[in-house]
Amino acid sequence: FQPKILVGRRVLITAGPTFEPIDPVRGITNRSSGKMGFAIARAAQQAGATVRLVAGPVALGTPWGVVRDDVETARQMYDAVLSTAADCDVFVSVAAVADWRVDEASVEKIKKTAGHRVPSLAFVENPDILATVAQLPNAPYCVGFAAESGNLETHGEEKRVRKNVPLLVGNLGPKTFGRDDNEVVLFDAHGVTRLPRMDKDALAVALVREIARRLPDASLI
Ligand code: C5P
Repeated sequence: FQPKILVGRRVLITAGPTFEPIDPVRGITNRSSGKMGFAIARAAQQAGATVRLVAGPVALGTPWGVVRDDVETARQMYDAVLSTAADCDVFVSVAAVADWRVDEASVEKIKKTAGHRVPSLAFVENPDILATVAQLPNAPYCVGFAAESGNLETHGEEKRVRKNVPLLVGNLGPKTFGRDDNEVVLFDAHGVTRLPRMDKDALAVALVREIARRLPDASLI
């Protein structure tokens, strides 16, 4: 049982990786199972929120009562998020969005040549979905995630300020991919809060509580 601390709130969540095509059969992607974002969607729904989940390619079932929008590329995720972000109260950006996409993906499968020449790829930068939403005139309360391979204390707060979000959840990424548990550190304007290692479902409930109590008019609900 969860207290209904998000009743009346519209929560938008991204989860999973994005997939950027090289050609019709190949692509580049990020490592993300989607488990953390899906767990947050479930916890937010159980806390009474209306939840929309924009998911990259993952092998997970849709949490009960959650509206799901499946996308592949970062640009599709950007479009799906921006079409509803301004109508939401909270945006939780959990997705591992590919920072770059292949410039002009090939329409045909790239063939191996007799001379074994390897193709070279040119990349262009994808839009930063979280930073874009955080800059909207009527921005929802934005929560970012950061998977760092080291020096989390410095990078976490720096990233929070750079993306202009009130709350950033940092984890030591390579230790959590695909696992069922996670250990995170919260960064907000007041400083750093460490949460103990928990399974992702328990952590999602804890994060929903941390988000709910930071919402601008939290005391009204
Ligand atoms: O800069 P970095 O990718 O480490 O930031 C991670 C945070 O930014 C995550 O919340 C992620 O969902 C979000 N992000 C995004 N769009 C991008 C890159 C990251 O929304 N193109």
